[in-house]
Amino acid sequence: AVKVSLRTISTMETEKEIIGSQKQQLAKLFEESLKAAFPDVSDVQPLIAICNDAKHGDYQCNNAMSLWNKLKGKCTQLKGPQPVGKAIIENLPASEMIEKCSIAGPGFVNIVLARQWIAKSLQKMLIDGIETWAPKLPVKRTVVDFSSPNIAKEMHVGHLRSTIIGDTLARMLEFSNVEVLRRNHVGDWGTQFGMLIEFLFDQFPNWEADSTPAIGDLEGFYKASKQRFDSDADFKERAQKAVVSLQGGEEKYRMAWAQICEISRKEFQKVYERLGVHLEEKGESFYNPYIPKALELLNEKGLIEESEGARVIFIEGKKIPLIVVKRDGGFNYASTDLTALWYRLNEEKADWMIYVTDVGQREHFEMFFSAAKRAGWLPSNEKDYPKASHVGFGLVLGEDGKRFRTRSTEVVKLVDLLDEAKSRCKLALEERGVFYILATLGYDTGGIFLFYFLSLLVNITGKAKEWTAEELEQTAEAVGYGAVKYADLKNNRLTNYTFNFDQMLSDKGNTAVYLLYAHARICSIIRKSGRDIEELKKSGAIDLAHPDERMLGLHLLQFAEIVEEACTNLLPNLVCEYLYNISEDFTRFYTNCQVVGSAEETSRLLLCEATAVVMRKCFHLLGITPGVVD
Ligand code: ARG
Repeated sequence: AVKVSLRTISTMETEKEIIGSQKQQLAKLFEESLKAAFPDVSDVQPLIAICNDAKHGDYQCNNAMSLWNKLKGKCTQLKGPQPVGKAIIENLPASEMIEKCSIAGPGFVNIVLARQWIAKSLQKMLIDGIETWAPKLPVKRTVVDFSSPNIAKEMHVGHLRSTIIGDTLARMLEFSNVEVLRRNHVGDWGTQFGMLIEFLFDQFPNWEADSTPAIGDLEGFYKASKQRFDSDADFKERAQKAVVSLQGGEEKYRMAWAQICEISRKEFQKVYERLGVHLEEKGESFYNPYIPKALELLNEKGLIEESEGARVIFIEGKKIPLIVVKRDGGFNYASTDLTALWYRLNEEKADWMIYVTDVGQREHFEMFFSAAKRAGWLPSNEKDYPKASHVGFGLVLGEDGKRFRTRSTEVVKLVDLLDEAKSRCKLALEERGVFYILATLGYDTGGIFLFYFLSLLVNITGKAKEWTAEELEQTAEAVGYGAVKYADLKNNRLTNYTFNFDQMLSDKGNTAVYLLYAHARICSIIRKSGRDIEELKKSGAIDLAHPDERMLGLHLLQFAEIVEEACTNLLPNLVCEYLYNISEDFTRFYTNCQVVGSAEETSRLLLCEATAVVMRKCFHLLGITPGVVD
């Protein structure tokens, strides 16, 4: 087993063993059996999957058929895939993990895990921490390039998606003990700066004395400068000259550029703070000094050709080549991205580069990834590392099914969305008194559940019913922003989704509010039992006698492989789906198994605690704060 020092262990600074997922543990056992049963067949990777039908088992090993195809004719003793499966079972090393194996269909080996082993694994996790369940991934250092808004333009909902999805991917990889370089590839370079700088000079004659001129609404500033650019020929000429001066590194222009970037940066930062997202900015301009060298390397490989006055790279299967030097000699988005890729590979030594943008940019990424493969920077096989992946996502739609816009048909501003989510929750909190009573009396009309849930959070903190203004703010933010994030993440990222406040703040179905409530309820069960859970963890034992207990336990244990799959396929919605399923499993268990006051109280309270721990970790991976309880 690999020993990894954990960064986030809370209590002791000791080294704990990372166990890996069940699949990974089973794979190890089956690898041994395959080697023992078929010593002459080399290179067989055990294929372990979750059983499609829980009736047949928990997992299955799917090697028999392909092995049989390899052995056919060569081996006289074995006749058909079934005996191959049998040989796999017979050669399994003894393990307390497996209760029994059986053969089904054309040689599938069904595996039933031992109940005691599931229980023990849960108990061990409660003591050693859920970090010991981190999956093991075949990468050391990744770059997650996400958010990446453009200077002087407002962050819009597309950037919101990139920020939310990118942050979650980074969190999942970090949890899996992968080093993550969180990169904000800000659009801070380009011809628009000529226009912006000239406009700044005109509007703020004293700009040099003022470190941050009060431009105020940056987007308005951008629009006004664009309007001037389009209507005033003299201004246009000056703006074009300004680009040349800026690119030539002239001090005055550099300073103005830096000021404009700084104003934007402060605006972006406010959004990141609200969302609890941390990023390191290495914008487009960062790579400028490296572009000539990177292009020279591509040129040496004979990749760069002349086409209609521009310098381009032809890509197999694409009609239009990738332009890397424009006709006027300037560099573009692609030259910067190719250079950034070179930098990440060679200077930062990353083995996985992940880019989060809308699907509209797919072509751009395909093109420059292909160029990098032609150059030998990336291996041609998609499966090999170092690897570059584009994480595309769909549009956010409004109620009318069209691209999400406000009434004035402006692009929706991110800040306004967050404000509204928060204020809706705050309102709910402020009015909670009346609704709390209604809800406890059993009224269940729209939205009341939310009020009830928020009241429950108050109970869990064990504090007086009256909240301080700060607590009110904090909770409204946790629930409001959590709801926005979850509504985005729960969809397969490639599909478009409709933005709807009522739906995302609803108490029913697969929403953050419902899940936060489910978690709060579990905490409340434990708290109300009056038992000391820390003490129980040390002295008590889990038993999973009831089928609903076993099912919940087994699914909790699958946490690591869900995270592993979500990382490998870059699909955060798998974690959402899992979280929702766990809450359903819990409801089934809680409906059918009495917890407090039963003979199994200790075991069941520990199972409640394990559920709460797994749910909290899921919330954490999704960037959601489980209220003020955490
Ligand atoms: N600034 C770009 C945009 O707003 C996104 C940049 C994505 N990252 C990259 N390396 N191309 O569309």
